[in-house]
Amino acid sequence: VKRITTHILQKMKDDGEKISMITAYDYSMARIFDDAGMDILLVGDSAANVMAGYETTLPITLDNMIYHAASVVRAIKRSFVTVDLPFGTYQGNSKEALASAIRIMKETSAHSVKIEGGEEILESVKRIISAGVPVMGHLGLTPQSINKFGTYAVRATEESEAQKLLNDARLLQDAGCFAIVLEKIPASLAKQVAESVRIPIIGIGAGKHVDGQVLVMHDMLGINKDFKPRFLRRYLNLYEEIKKASQAYIHDVKAKDFPNDNEQY
Ligand code: KIV
Ligand code: NA
Repeated sequence: VKRITTHILQKMKDDGEKISMITAYDYSMARIFDDAGMDILLVGDSAANVMAGYETTLPITLDNMIYHAASVVRAIKRSFVTVDLPFGTYQGNSKEALASAIRIMKETSAHSVKIEGGEEILESVKRIISAGVPVMGHLGLTPQSINKFGTYAVRATEESEAQKLLNDARLLQDAGCFAIVLEKIPASLAKQVAESVRIPIIGIGAGKHVDGQVLVMHDMLGINKDFKPRFLRRYLNLYEEIKKASQAYIHDVKAKDFPNDNEQY
């Protein structure tokens, strides 16, 4: 199998082939996604929410991210793996940003890092890229800044914010980012961004006029029971499926039906 690289991802945009991306946090799920043909696996700091149960993504540590990322990388043969730098490991200090990215690359063998923000974090982006580490940008709804914005509502609906986002996308491209995630912004603005930069734009809640799509695996598989935003398409209802299977197992144990004579030594 041919491994996905940043060059292949760029060629996909140039050829009009959409890029598929999903989050993964552990070996077993990453193995399935890789085998299915997913182009990019994102070890997202959404692990703070879906794996650890925190309300925001702020508490997760670099050590936590490295544990998840190393587990994912051990499973993959083809997919490109990108890892979120967590809150507090890259903002405001580009040397610390580079040190964080280097720890990810050395201790996990992942292929790139992702960081939230535009102009504010440009120094960090440039320093990481200058060390040979590919960087994926992330604009629009940036969950690490939730305390600044106060809500998870759609972003860049106002002209000034839309202009800043367009400008940030160009700055990230010029700094050398190989792709950018756009989260929860109007489809018309996402289209404008995808048309005004050469690099792949990957959307979540950003409409169809972008170069690829990303979803959180728990959302795509219906494990997150009550999370049903407009942008989400669910491909399974795993919460109910796993609950039903669990109840069947409980029933069989209580009824002394499991194990039977063939299920013992
Ligand atoms: O952490 C994450 O899951 C993400 C995606 C929503 C893009 O950053
Ligand atoms: Na993230």
